[in-house]
Amino acid sequence: MSIAIVIGSSGGIGEAVVNELLNSAKYDQIIEFCRPQIDLQDESTIQKAAEIVPQKPVTLIINATGYLHDFENKPEKSLRELSSAALQKYFMINAIGPALLMKYFLPLLPRHERAVFANISARVGSIEDNRLGGWYGYRASKAALNQFTKTAAIELGRTHPEAVCVALHPGTVETRLSAPYVASRYKREKPNVTARHLLAVISNLNSNDTGKLFDWRGERIPW
Ligand SMILES: NC(=O)c1ccc[n+]([C@@H]2O[C@H](COP(=O)([O-])OP(=O)(O)OC[C@H]3O[C@@H](n4cnc5c(N)ncnc54)[C@H](OP(=O)(O)O)[C@@H]3O)[C@@H](O)[C@H]2O)c1
Repeated sequence: MSIAIVIGSSGGIGEAVVNELLNSAKYDQIIEFCRPQIDLQDESTIQKAAEIVPQKPVTLIINATGYLHDFENKPEKSLRELSSAALQKYFMINAIGPALLMKYFLPLLPRHERAVFANISARVGSIEDNRLGGWYGYRASKAALNQFTKTAAIELGRTHPEAVCVALHPGTVETRLSAPYVASRYKREKPNVTARHLLAVISNLNSNDTGKLFDWRGERIPW
């Protein structure tokens, strides 16, 4: 018996990943979490969710949560637009929440079996790749997520030598998150196609890949 867990299953990419996993029939059980069961701004919900996962090998965990905009905040174009409250929200949902997910969910991975924990991150979190500027809170919080992923991968490797903990860039995908920011002339992928790509990348990962950032084609993105 093996279990796959998708956190953020109400999102465009998360829902598509769940559907792909169901179609693949590779897992005996697929567990979905989203709000209110897991609210990344409330650590106790993360702890409670991890506690109800059955005691069977969990060989895949995908964190497909993320935050770019809502009625309160839009990605900042300039330093003039920075606000403490917005920056705190970006860091809470994109970095601190996922770090706490790893705190409670990484211990569920089996110790001597290949298993993968993937955080859906974003290319804009790459410091090396930052050519356009802007989007301070989103960029910086995804850079922090990347660092949390790498740091957790190092710790995980000490007890779980076959486990893989990575960050993945999904590409530009037609979801609520991207809708206001991607002009229709740009190529956007449908979530189900992205889900297939991401699961193909995940299935090719091994322990040498842990602690790295890959795009939807499986190509390494510099930190
Ligand atoms: N779409 C793109 O083009 C693109 C590009 C690069 C990276 N990404 C990354 O891909 C991931 C998935 O994004 P998406 O495009 O699928 O966006 P989406 O459709 O907006 O989904 C976002 C998910 O995050 C969840 N979420 C937000 N705040 C949360 C909180 N406080 N607690 C728990 N869950 C929370 C949402 O839950 P609710 O349904 O409850 O709001 C939803 O399940 C994100 O990490 C995003 O940064 C997307």
